[in-house]
Amino acid sequence: MIHRTNYTGATNTRLAVTLGWSLVLVLMLISGTGTASVMAKNQQQPGVGRVLEALKRLPAEQVKRNPALAAKAREVAEAVQGQPEYLELVRKFEIQGQGSNLAQMIVSDLDANSKAEAARLLLLLESEAAIKEILKVTPKENHPAWAQAFGNSGRSEAVWVLKWILNQPETTAEGLTQAVEGLTKYEQGSEWLLDLAKQGNLPKSVRLRTASLLNRSQWESVRAEASEILPLPPSKNTEPLPPIEELIQLSGDPLNGEKVFYRAESLCALCHQVGDQGAAFGPALTEIGSKLGKDALYAAILDPNAGVSFGYETTTLTLDSGDTATGIIVSETDQQIVLGMAGGITTPYEKERLLDRSTEAISMMPAGLQQTMTTQELVDLVEFLSELKTRK
Ligand code: HEC
Repeated sequence: MIHRTNYTGATNTRLAVTLGWSLVLVLMLISGTGTASVMAKNQQQPGVGRVLEALKRLPAEQVKRNPALAAKAREVAEAVQGQPEYLELVRKFEIQGQGSNLAQMIVSDLDANSKAEAARLLLLLESEAAIKEILKVTPKENHPAWAQAFGNSGRSEAVWVLKWILNQPETTAEGLTQAVEGLTKYEQGSEWLLDLAKQGNLPKSVRLRTASLLNRSQWESVRAEASEILPLPPSKNTEPLPPIEELIQLSGDPLNGEKVFYRAESLCALCHQVGDQGAAFGPALTEIGSKLGKDALYAAILDPNAGVSFGYETTTLTLDSGDTATGIIVSETDQQIVLGMAGGITTPYEKERLLDRSTEAISMMPAGLQQTMTTQELVDLVEFLSELKTRK
């Protein structure tokens, strides 16, 4: 109990130790050793560890009250920037103005916990306006790392950062996915996603992912609303399918999956080849198990429009007769466009006879094919596909 009292009781031995350390530190600081040189980034250098250690033992209040010590704490922290000790010092002494250093840690190769801590410290020590300024100059390639760190921060103030990332027109698909993952970790973020879906403004590439996450949300009210607004795709018996996270845990029978693939109502072989069987319209699936994991296979089947494979976008040609033709461009020269249709049919069109052409990032693969299957049949089908691997 005595140990927990304040630092005025001079008989406390721990206090003596603490004061001893402060003395060492203060002496080191005052003796003009030059913290910058002592503190050179190189941890190997003798002295660095000791000063760090001394600082860590100083009561935070004492340092914060003393401007000279506070300035030194900042100097020491900045000297170990990028290392976990840096975060420790920034947190302990609430060192302000570390926005860009902390931001750098979020995109470094530190572990996820340190990055989450960097995000927490940004929220704690920097104003919303300051964080926004940093975000604005953050290249979009870094959005996924930001979304991950703020998603993991466990602080509900992170929600506005995640919303901001999701709302950027130039955020990548990965950035969107990570922002959704992050938002669903917060009740307020989950509700915002539901509102977005209600207004029809949820980006389509993350619809299924959002549905999966919100339908197994930890908050019951979120789950209830998600089952209305973002229902999981139904299977044959019109039961909603389990979320992909659960489907990938189930094991299937690949032999039965092969039967499902080739049976008429699935339509798969009308558009896909496996080896030399089936029609070449969509991508060949001969080695699809090497390219896509089970989660991506489920996503490809349950939500074809979420991500259309490159070169398989849907093109519509308007002919001078007024007719239109829709398919996938198989080849194109100066004179001709060859369009592929389901079943593997290809048709050439003379360019001089076209009034218009447009290509959209939507898939010619129909959504809802899983409704011709039971959940188990779908699991079997994915097992079959995931075993189609490159033979060595
Ligand atoms: C009407 C044609 C059509 C049918 C039917 C069809 N697909 Fe597709 N599929 C496509 C096209 C086109 C693409 C490429 C565009 C895209 O990524 O959505 C594709 C993409 C895929 C992909 C992703 C391939 C890759 O390389 O990324 C998988 C997996 C897939 N389909 C599986 C299936 C399965 C399983 C079935 C049957 C349940 C099926 N497809 C039925 C046309 C079809």
